[in-house]
Amino acid sequence: MTARNLFIVTGLSLALVAGCSSDEQSAKNQNQAEDKTEQPDESKEENNATYENESATESDQPNEDESSTSEYKNENGQSENQNAYPAMGETVAEENGKKIVTNPDSIYVVANKERNLPADFVPENLVEPDVPFYANEGDPKRLMVEEAAKALEEMFDAANKDGMQLKAVSGYRSYERQEAIFAYNADRYGAEKANRVSAHAGQSEHQTGLTMDISAPSLGGSLSEKFGSTPEGEWVAENAYMYGFVVRYLKGKEEITGYQYEPWHVRYVGKEAAKEIHEAGITLEEFFAK
Ligand code: DAL
Ligand code: ZN
Repeated sequence: MTARNLFIVTGLSLALVAGCSSDEQSAKNQNQAEDKTEQPDESKEENNATYENESATESDQPNEDESSTSEYKNENGQSENQNAYPAMGETVAEENGKKIVTNPDSIYVVANKERNLPADFVPENLVEPDVPFYANEGDPKRLMVEEAAKALEEMFDAANKDGMQLKAVSGYRSYERQEAIFAYNADRYGAEKANRVSAHAGQSEHQTGLTMDISAPSLGGSLSEKFGSTPEGEWVAENAYMYGFVVRYLKGKEEITGYQYEPWHVRYVGKEAAKEIHEAGITLEEFFAK
C-alpha cells in the first residue's frame, strides 16, 4: 500500500469515526455521517508535529483580565495593539505539571497541545443552531455556545444566499467523548497518526462549544482537505470572519497550531477578532501570543 493509499484508508476510517465519510468515498458513504453517530467521532485531528508554543510565556500570576494587551507583528513586521484581547501567558495556570487555561468560557480561549481545558469544563448555554446537520436531532455534536450558534446561523444564511450548501458535522464534544475518540484512533491507527488528526481530551476546541466542523453535500459530509477547494470551502475561507469565525488550522501553520490543515474546522472568536486574525492571516497562537 502506498503512503497515499494508507492515508486515504486511514482518513476514511477516521472520518467515519468522526461521523462523516471520506472524500474518496463520499457517494458511497453519503449517509454514514448520520449513521455513525454512536461511534467515536472526529478522529481526524491532531498533528504530532513538534509544537513549540514559544510565544506563550506564562505569568506567575494567571490573570483572566481580558483587557490586558498583547502584541503580534503582522507580515510587514508592524506591531499591532490588541487591546481587549488576553495574552496567552495571562490565561494559563500550572496544575500538577499541566498547563490549564483559566478562561475556558471566553470566546478568546486558546486550547491546544500545550494548553488544556479543565477536564470538568462544560460550557454553559449550549444550544442547537438552526442549520442543516448530518447528525440526528438531539446529538450533542449539534450543540454550540449560544453566541457562536447564532453567528453560525448567520453565516449559513449568508452562504446559502450566495448559493453555497454548507452542512454542519460536529460542534460540542465533552472531555469524555474526546478521550474516547483519541483512544479509539490511537488503538486503531497508532498514537502518532492519531495525534496528527485529533486532540487529546482537554485539548480540543470542540469542548469549548465555540467550534463547528463543516462540510458540503458535494463531499458527502466528509471532513477532507478537499473541502478547502470546494466552492463552500472557499466561501468559508473568505467569508467566515465576517460572522466571527476563523479557520483554525491553516495550511502552512501546522507547526504552530500542532494540527494538520483543517479547512472544515471553524472557531468562533467574535467579529472583531476574527477580522483582525483573518486579515493578518495568522493563527490564534500568533494572535494571542505572549
Ligand atoms: N480537530 C481538532 C484538532 C480537534 O480534535 O479538536
Ligand atoms: Zn474540528
